Amino acid sequence: MTPVEKISEDELRTLQLERLRWTLRHAYDNVPFYRRSFDAAGLRPEDCRTLADLARFPMTTKHDLRDNYPFGMFAVPREQVRRVHASSGTTGRPTVVGYTERDLSTWADVMARSIRAAGGRPGHIVHIAYGYGLFTGGLGAHYGAERLGCTVVPVSGGMTSRQVRLILDFEPDIIMVTPSYMLALVDEFERQGVDPRSTSLKIGLFGAEPWTEGMREEIEDRVGIDALDLYGLSEVMGPGVSQECAETKDGLHVWEDHFYPEVVDPVTGEVLPEGERGELLFTSLTKEAQPIIRYRTRDLTRLLPGTAARPYRRMEKVTGRSDDMIILRGVNVFPTQIEEIVLRTPGLSPHFQLMLTREGRMDHLTVRVEARPGCPAERRDPAAAEVTAAVKDTVGVSVACSVLDPETLERSAGKLSRLADHRGT
Ligand code: DLL
Repeated sequence: MTPVEKISEDELRTLQLERLRWTLRHAYDNVPFYRRSFDAAGLRPEDCRTLADLARFPMTTKHDLRDNYPFGMFAVPREQVRRVHASSGTTGRPTVVGYTERDLSTWADVMARSIRAAGGRPGHIVHIAYGYGLFTGGLGAHYGAERLGCTVVPVSGGMTSRQVRLILDFEPDIIMVTPSYMLALVDEFERQGVDPRSTSLKIGLFGAEPWTEGMREEIEDRVGIDALDLYGLSEVMGPGVSQECAETKDGLHVWEDHFYPEVVDPVTGEVLPEGERGELLFTSLTKEAQPIIRYRTRDLTRLLPGTAARPYRRMEKVTGRSDDMIILRGVNVFPTQIEEIVLRTPGLSPHFQLMLTREGRMDHLTVRVEARPGCPAERRDPAAAEVTAAVKDTVGVSVACSVLDPETLERSAGKLSRLADHRGT
């Protein structure tokens, strides 16, 4: 553990307040957007005298970043920005984020801390299959692993059979990849006749998309590794905002010396007490190029206290984004709820898609799920019926389920989208 991880809670809160006041001042003085939004709320940076005062400040949304596309949120002259990343921007303009030299160093530090908390050590070989490029996954993981003193294999996503070859030849200890693409790799090992449990891999750091405890068990059983959750988002930094530790696998420690979390009621915006579920917000505490104040992540979770090992508060595994929620005939359905059910139904693989259709005025949801290879044909109908019954029972809504042949659904080499929305098309 680095010394700053052993800080006492009091020291941490003092450090946070000092850094928060610096951040508010830096944002107000250098980013016209923040100056306008603080002024409109009748607030000055110095009105933040305690950490709780932050709740009086306005929130920032993805729209605000888009409105200031591309470089309008920078708080330093563009020449001091060493790198930019951007979100995929599948809808509308992408959101751009910038980093100074010191920001990149901070990012490498928090990412190194994350790999270490997951059990990584200097000298380990790290296979990175997160995409490299504008997406923060690949390069974020890369510099963190180097900072920790690991040997990095920068593979990026895709070319699945080559990934398998490289894992067999280079014998990495650690893999960093989206959980959905990890499953595609595991299938590929099996296709090549290699037992995935026989490889050198010991630890996986999985993130960039929601995944469930059922998926953790699936990966741990099939690959024989510890599967740990890594969280982050570009607007706040990239991967390495919070990380589950190998000892407890129980919530992700937020690296609170750099990122200040709050959980709010998604409708009223009111700050919720520790332990209550709501929408996660982050305020950066040290970012120079692009400070971010009360950023609405849309991710739903709750905050939990730190542990004896680390005073850093934890966030519960993110099981959904408000954006991913399907409202089906008035009932909220999260893809992760379906994932839990599919994974505990014998005969079904973890590869599934949710298809939304509209008949008349009614929306229908069909769970399209692949059978596991070797699942007997007569098991398919009962498995489909079990999924329908379990969804009705636990989520409270009627869905259809169709069981498909193995290898029929498209695999994604990066972030997976579970939803296929065919309404209105
Ligand atoms: O996905 C950064 C990242 C890369 C994190 C690699 C972990 C590993 P964005 O593309 O900006 O950044 O997407 C951020 O992805 O708001 C969550 O909705 C989701 N997300 C990220 N990590 C997790 C996770 C990267 N561990 C958005 N669990 C976030 C659930 C996650 N959702």
